[in-house]
Amino acid sequence: MSKQCKLILALDLPDRELALTMLKKLQGSLEWVKIGLQMYLKYGAGLVEEAAAMGFKVFLDLKMYDIPNTVASAVKSLAGQKISMLTIHASGGAEMMSRAAEAAAESNPNLEILAVTVLTSFDEQALRLTGVAAKPAEQVLNLALLAKQSGVRGLVCSPLEIGLLRKNLGGEIDLITPGIRPLGADVGDQKRIMPPLMAARAGSSYIVVGRPILKAADPALAARGIIAELESAK
Ligand code: C5P
Repeated sequence: MSKQCKLILALDLPDRELALTMLKKLQGSLEWVKIGLQMYLKYGAGLVEEAAAMGFKVFLDLKMYDIPNTVASAVKSLAGQKISMLTIHASGGAEMMSRAAEAAAESNPNLEILAVTVLTSFDEQALRLTGVAAKPAEQVLNLALLAKQSGVRGLVCSPLEIGLLRKNLGGEIDLITPGIRPLGADVGDQKRIMPPLMAARAGSSYIVVGRPILKAADPALAARGIIAELESAK
């Protein structure tokens, strides 16, 4: 198990200029950035290209969900872009996930498909209203097992689910966890949070952190501080 847990910056900023200024500040201090729907829908492949040209590995967080053929085709459409991680929804089912993983392997061997299990915005009641009788943790495990059987090598999950997933899925699968806050940092709208060191010790492979870095007076210093904390977990 214990691969070094790495930091991914969630590049959630309102415009390209701010994003590029932030990336310049972080060059050399950070390896990974996550580009989500907010920025990708506005700036598209150009922004991915710019981040990659600055030396960052790009995690494209599009959370795809559609019929298997459409998702597989969408993965192939991204083949030319320098992305290293891409999210799909595990609730799209086994065939959708396996077709996405196959499409990635064929079109870009460096691209890892990650499955999102249950969004952390769902509680038990919200899940039940969608017709899912299982409790959130049970449903996370159901979908995580399905994702693994479908050839997906990474999962996005809450840090509070790391223990459950490591116990049932083993040490090989990558677990990517948002909902991270360094001790003393502003919690913002995150509710179920964990500090970097605890997440790394619990078995997270990558932590996703946005505002504690983006809003820091010195983002590079904040990023290096978090990385040092992760490295101390070894
Ligand atoms: O600013 P903050 O550190 O809260 O950013 C966390 C990032 O992780 C955001 O991009 C958010 O959309 C994403 N995320 C999350 N919780 C999830 C899934 C994704 O916070 N369950």
